[in-house]
Amino acid sequence: MDYKEQYQAYLSQATSALEETCSRFLPEESEVCRAARYSLLGGGKRIRAVLVLSVCDMLGGNMAAAEQFCAAVEMLHCYSLIHDDLPCMDNDDLRRGRPSCHKAFSESTAMLAGDVLLTEAFEVVANAPASPLASVRAAQALGLGAGSRGMVYGQELDLKYEALAATEEQLRLIHRNKTGALINAAVQMGAAAADAEPAQCKALEDYAYGLGLVFQIVDDVLDVTSTPEQLGKPIGSDSENGKTTFVTLYGVEGAMDLARRLNQNVCQTLEENFGDKAEFLLRLAQQLLVRKN
Ligand code: IPE
Ligand code: IPE
Ligand code: MG
Ligand code: MG
Ligand code: MG
Repeated sequence: MDYKEQYQAYLSQATSALEETCSRFLPEESEVCRAARYSLLGGGKRIRAVLVLSVCDMLGGNMAAAEQFCAAVEMLHCYSLIHDDLPCMDNDDLRRGRPSCHKAFSESTAMLAGDVLLTEAFEVVANAPASPLASVRAAQALGLGAGSRGMVYGQELDLKYEALAATEEQLRLIHRNKTGALINAAVQMGAAAADAEPAQCKALEDYAYGLGLVFQIVDDVLDVTSTPEQLGKPIGSDSENGKTTFVTLYGVEGAMDLARRLNQNVCQTLEENFGDKAEFLLRLAQQLLVRKN
């Protein structure tokens, strides 16, 4: 299997699913829905969508269901980015190489665009061509990853620690919630579409949280080392907002060393549990470590 070709294939499946979602659930007449479409269709790596599809594929599951689930998790993720960029949060004016939603539209429209994406994500899950059990499991995974024990809690902690110096342990907790939890939701939604066994879900959970931590460490490093052109979002945002990151704790090299070590563990557990079938997920973890945007 060629990794890049496979990634492109998943990406085009995700893009078609997102386009279908827009025409079904985000009507053009609404300014809020136009803002949601602007942010949703305006690029992004689609890592979470690719995780849903590749996990389902690895487990031989229902790909038609996974396509809808992958659209739902990207909608949820996109809402989190729109709100994350708002002046009351990170106050960033650039996202995915274009003006942030509140810059292209207005703050109130951006807030509602986030709200509509969050809400419609669950409607997409409920309308997926999946068994009732798979749909319920996917909705549970998405709710858990996004809410009070996941992304929203992580964002709460992230803001709280702007005024405080976080320790490594506290930082791990923030990253686990703000980034790991939604990555785990994606992975578990892929598993739900494949009616995965509890032991498989557990192994995938370890992979997802490990990957999420590595992903967020690299995000923190890129905030210091990249350029807005390459990254598609402003650099220096974290230090401007007084955030403790792995870079403030250990420096760029120290943070990357830690990310590499964590990534090795992530790959090892995955290989132990899924063997050769995990090849794509292993390559994905390696790619995310050396990503440039
Ligand atoms: C950005 O996520 C927010 C974090 C959790 C670090 P991504 O880096 O996946 O953003 P897109 O979807 O590719 O724009
Ligand atoms: C955001 O983390 C995580 C979310 C839940 C959106 P960051 O604030 O570091 O994400 P970027 O760097 O703005 O993409
Ligand atoms: Mg933030
Ligand atoms: Mg931000
Ligand atoms: Mg960041």
